Amino acid sequence: MNYELAYSTFDEKERNAMYKIIQSDMFTMGKNVKAFEEEFALFFGKKYAVMVNSGSSANLVGVASLFYKKENPLNRGDEVIVPCISWATTYHPLQQYGLKLKFVDIDLETLNYDIEELKKAITPNTKMIVTVSILGNPNYYDEIEKVCEENNIILFDDNCEAMGAKYNGKFTGTSGLINTYSTFFSHHISTMEGGLILTDDYEIYCLCKSLRNHGWTRDQEPDSPIYEKKGDDFFEAYRFILPGYNVRPGELQGAIGLEQIKKLPDMLIQRRKNAQYFVSKFKDDKRFIIQKEVGESSWFAFTLIISPNSNLKRDSVFMALKKAEIGYRIITGGNFLEHDVIKYFDYEVTKSENASYAHNYGFFVGNSPQDMTKEIDLLYKTLKDL
Ligand SMILES: Cc1ncc(COP(=O)(O)O)c(C=O)c1O
Repeated sequence: MNYELAYSTFDEKERNAMYKIIQSDMFTMGKNVKAFEEEFALFFGKKYAVMVNSGSSANLVGVASLFYKKENPLNRGDEVIVPCISWATTYHPLQQYGLKLKFVDIDLETLNYDIEELKKAITPNTKMIVTVSILGNPNYYDEIEKVCEENNIILFDDNCEAMGAKYNGKFTGTSGLINTYSTFFSHHISTMEGGLILTDDYEIYCLCKSLRNHGWTRDQEPDSPIYEKKGDDFFEAYRFILPGYNVRPGELQGAIGLEQIKKLPDMLIQRRKNAQYFVSKFKDDKRFIIQKEVGESSWFAFTLIISPNSNLKRDSVFMALKKAEIGYRIITGGNFLEHDVIKYFDYEVTKSENASYAHNYGFFVGNSPQDMTKEIDLLYKTLKDL
């Protein structure tokens, strides 16, 4: 492959960190995970972080916690607004917890919510809005936060694609009651597999810690508001208070995370440099719509959507990319409504034309925190003469 979707960012630092864990012979969740959680929360200016084994698990545990909070918990049948384009596991926990989804179309340039459509979709029944900053590009958080506050709606920010992005100088993935992150390979930092929940809400934090860990009380803080200690250590050792999961990360993930978070600022700079180059190459090519940056994107990848007035065929683009050995994918899984799994959902759609257009005419190629000039040049050359 000449242009991969993603490249490894591990070097001696991560390898040494892993080796130390191997030497310690202590692999299950412990002090490295805790230290990484603290560093991660500090970096993003939030009070609490809970690490889990994937971004998908972060969404699952995050959604679950909202059903068990004392005040205004979510209930089965509640209405949640979601964008038509996101990753499958943005939606799956919502289905699994019996929520009713209302799909709102995206803007073809930003690839996030069409903000006017989002505002129109809100009703007195709307209990939660899920935001997803597609491929690193921030949503219009000022407007979304405002409608959430005015209407007493929970903001759940699935920030799994946008670590390090900023809107109005504020990190994405910090505005929600719950904010989720993925640290899967190819994401802005990688712990091989991994994910995190960030929140400022102590009750949510305690709920998430219990839910990731069998629903037990073992690692609750002494002042946890989610249960009352009975004082019998024998029963407390295995005491279950929530229908939870085991989605813990391991110490290897925690130790790698501690190294990767140190690299994040420089990795973001390089991703943005690559993006500048990509934009300079494609901004005047009227055959394609490229993603319009809102605020400061963290540029997970680069998108190209064939313009409605171009007669270029996506299949011929794909053939050329294949021949040049350039990796490409549908944009974040495309329009979720077009996937078979939708038959299991309780949902309505306000509008989805743009999402369908991106599904049928768009694709993305990779970005990574290394100099991508050569790869972008190859892409440019490959597409230039089609
Ligand atoms: C928006 C979004 N949410 C959730 C996830 C799931 O993350 P993971 O692959 O770590 O489970 C992804 C994965 O890329 C994603 O793009």
